[in-house]
Amino acid sequence: MKKQLYINGEWRDSANYAELLSPYTNKVIAQIPQASKEEVEETIEIAHQKRTEMARLTAYERAEILEELVQLFKENRQKAAEIISLESAKPLKFSLGEIDRTIETYKFAAEEAKRLTGEMIPMDAAKNGANRFGYTIEEPIGVIGAITPFNFPQNLVAHKVGPAIASGNPIVLKPASQTPLSALFLAELIDQTSLPKGAFNVVTGSGRIVGDALVENPLVKMITFTGSPAVGIGIRNKAGLKKVALELGSNAGLIIDRNVDLDEIVPKCVTGAFSNQGQVCISLQRTYVLEEIFTTFVKKFAEATQALTIGDPMNTTTDLSAMIHSAEQERALSWVDEAVSLGAEIITGGKIENGVFLPTILTNVDATAKVSCQEVFAPIVIVNRIASIEEGIHAINDSDYGLQAGIFTNDIQTAFHASKALEVGGVMINDIPTYRVDQMPYGGVKESGTGKEGLKYAIHEMTETKLIVWNQN
Ligand code: SIN
Repeated sequence: MKKQLYINGEWRDSANYAELLSPYTNKVIAQIPQASKEEVEETIEIAHQKRTEMARLTAYERAEILEELVQLFKENRQKAAEIISLESAKPLKFSLGEIDRTIETYKFAAEEAKRLTGEMIPMDAAKNGANRFGYTIEEPIGVIGAITPFNFPQNLVAHKVGPAIASGNPIVLKPASQTPLSALFLAELIDQTSLPKGAFNVVTGSGRIVGDALVENPLVKMITFTGSPAVGIGIRNKAGLKKVALELGSNAGLIIDRNVDLDEIVPKCVTGAFSNQGQVCISLQRTYVLEEIFTTFVKKFAEATQALTIGDPMNTTTDLSAMIHSAEQERALSWVDEAVSLGAEIITGGKIENGVFLPTILTNVDATAKVSCQEVFAPIVIVNRIASIEEGIHAINDSDYGLQAGIFTNDIQTAFHASKALEVGGVMINDIPTYRVDQMPYGGVKESGTGKEGLKYAIHEMTETKLIVWNQN
């Protein structure tokens, strides 16, 4: 199926096309246009021309557009989920879950569009401020360049498109090369809303051409990117004075204290480590377990992992399928081999079977092994023994990343201490680090990124605060 670019509310062919393969069957599922630099520049110019019209939309109108999108996603829930599973091999039940979250994300965006307020400034608090009346307003900044990842091809797009519309900004979206179909389907839905044509555009193609053209163009006022730290740092270096929001990776950690209910915790750990084949920025990657319960935890974790249903992502019963690319599975395998060469033990998995990298638990993993100190982005989790909570906190903090962390404990002092001591963007008490609902602030420290998502926070990133002062003398 030959797809088209979505520019200025019109579907356009491009000069170049690339085949899109299903990660599970390796069969060609579509021909994807590869936009040229000139096409991206023309699209940016069109979006730039739309900025005044977008900025003039009332809060009521912006919320209505987003509500229309919510309704369209509700009507197309199954189709949108099937597209995700087809192009990314995300098991269908998780794709349906992603569409439910996407609906919530656009709903929150619609609500936040009506809450975009400034503040009164107490001008007379300064000696020279008497008889002045000051307040701020939040103004849209202009063209938003959104560069999105493959792992949540609708909801992580919604986290950029929703706040951009809510704050009155035009958008040029470059979806991940592996998952363009979801973004093009979003364009089909947006085309049916009352959003002004040209305010939302999708340019598919390579990061080097499309991504660079967005990052380097001065008419783009903000880049919002979710993806790898290496690419994120490259964007920041090239972006000049543009605003840049970066949601990058992590090697998320969890501490499990003694005296906790392992039967309740283990299913959560399975979800945290293996949902979407571990290809989640807050996937549970490093687990630090108090030595008294270590053996029991590992046994229960392995049993629950071995009970997962593995296979075709389009089957409703499948829990785990292929990673995004066979080369990624080979890379994951080589990281397991490296960990084993450094003394790790494979408890389960550690191999590819029928084209799927099996869910893998490793113990006794050296902190210098890649599966520990880098972002694994694969269904691999390490479980190491700790003698104290302090040792677990130290291990989690001993990382280049800091997105989210979790701790299971029944001790309130321990929970409080960990919440302060863990160097991350979010601490989940009595939950896995993978926990996220879409309105909460989400973003990391260190190499996990800069800026926050979560509708209210992302909207704030996409506006400029303007001060107005009246002299009443
Ligand atoms: C991510 O991979 O950064 C997103 C995780 C999520 O939204 O659950």
